[in-house]
Formats: sequence, structure tokens, C-alpha cells
Amino acid sequence: MLRVLCFVCVMFGVNCVSAPFIKPCAKSDSACIQASARAAIPYFITGVPELGISSLDPLKLAVIKGDQEGLRLTFTNTVVTGLRDAAIEDIKQDAGKLTVTARSSVALRGDYTLGGRLLLFPIRGEGKYNIKIQDIVIKSTVDLKSVEGADGKPHWNITKWRHSYRVHTGAQFDFDNLFNGNKFLATPVHEFVNLNWREVMQEVAPPIVRAIVAVVIDNIRALFNMVPIDELQL
Ligand SMILES: *[C@@H]1O[C@H](CO)[C@@H](O)[C@H](O)[C@H]1NC(C)=O
Repeated sequence: MLRVLCFVCVMFGVNCVSAPFIKPCAKSDSACIQASARAAIPYFITGVPELGISSLDPLKLAVIKGDQEGLRLTFTNTVVTGLRDAAIEDIKQDAGKLTVTARSSVALRGDYTLGGRLLLFPIRGEGKYNIKIQDIVIKSTVDLKSVEGADGKPHWNITKWRHSYRVHTGAQFDFDNLFNGNKFLATPVHEFVNLNWREVMQEVAPPIVRAIVAVVIDNIRALFNMVPIDELQL
């Protein structure tokens, strides 16, 4: 799509913007910002290699590591799907900050290693895993600074970011080969974690959510790097 648009720009000698999928908005026009962000989502989902934006669905995460409250977890070769149906619930820009709230359901699959204690249970195992999360709402805020880009124009730079989230509907966990495939040990743990998904999510989800948000932020960084502020904002 982008290639075609740029080709057209070159052919007709018109002034070609580098991100034609972004409609510039005035900073105070939140209806315009929301509409523009919604219209840009499909480009972020499939990725725009010309701008250094990688695909968000499927989203690949090589390594996710966590170690909190006595639970050590490593997920490798993870593929996250479902972000193509993400909905932006709110987006606001003020005083050098951009805050986006989005809702999505996602499925993760890959390889896991777990050790330590999950809630009450001693847990260990390694193998394939599958986690489905229904209706997670993630709110993230980035701090923006205007810096001079390679083209000599002002560009946004993300200096800091933070996020919070809440899972609304539920989560399902499937860890293959827990306790070396000992079903006598694994079955009650599986039943327990699926019944107590909310508490389990509090221990398992933070590194996962952080890894997903980090990729989204990297893609927004890539966009800001390539596209000057005057093409993003009026
Ligand atoms: C943009 O922000 C990052 C993170 O704070 C920083 O490392 C980088 O030097 C900044 N880039 C410019 C051009 O100021």
C-alpha cells in the first residue's frame, strides 16, 4: 500500500508524505486523533517494513522472562495472535504525554519453563504452552520530547513509558508436560490455575504484558523516527 502510494507520488511529482496512513490532527482535537489512530491500526497490525514497523499480529517474542513472588518463568519462541481485533478505547495527548487505552483478547503459544511456587503450589515443568487472555485493557503513557531528526526537522522522541492493565473476562492456561508429564501432579495444578485465573494472571502476566507493550512502543518509536511532527500533527 505504502509502496504504491509513494510510487504514485514520485510519478506525479506531488509532495509525498512518508506516512500517508496518518492523518495529521490538531493537538486539542481528540476526535480527530482517535479517528486517525483507529485508521492507522491496520498498518501497525500488518507492519510497515519501509518505516521499520514490525507486524503486531502475529507478534513474535523470542524470550520473556519473569521472576517474582518465588515464581521463575521463561517463555521462548512465543507467538501472540489477536491484536488485529484490538480496539482503542481512549487516546489523549497533553503536556508532552500521549496516553492510549486499548482493549484486546490475545492468545499466546510457545515454549515454557516454570519453576518455584505459583500461588500455593510448587510448580515445575517445561514444554509447550498456550495462554488465552480475554478482554485485557491496557493503558500506556509515553513521555514525548521534540528532538531534531536526521532530516533536520522536529521529531517526537519517547523518553519514558509506563503501563497498567486489567483483565476483565478471563484467562485460560495450558502448560504441556508439567511435572515431567506426571498427570497425577499436573491435573490438580491445571484445574487450580484455571479456576483462579485472576490471581495467576497477577503472577504470570506482568512480564508478558510488558513484552507486548514494549514491541508496540518500539514500533511507535520507529514511526516517530521516520516521520516528522508536522506530518503527524497540525
Ligand atoms: C530519545 O530518547 C532516548 C530514551 O530516553 C534517548 O536514549 C535518546 O538519546 C533520545 N534521542 C534523542 C535524539 O534525543
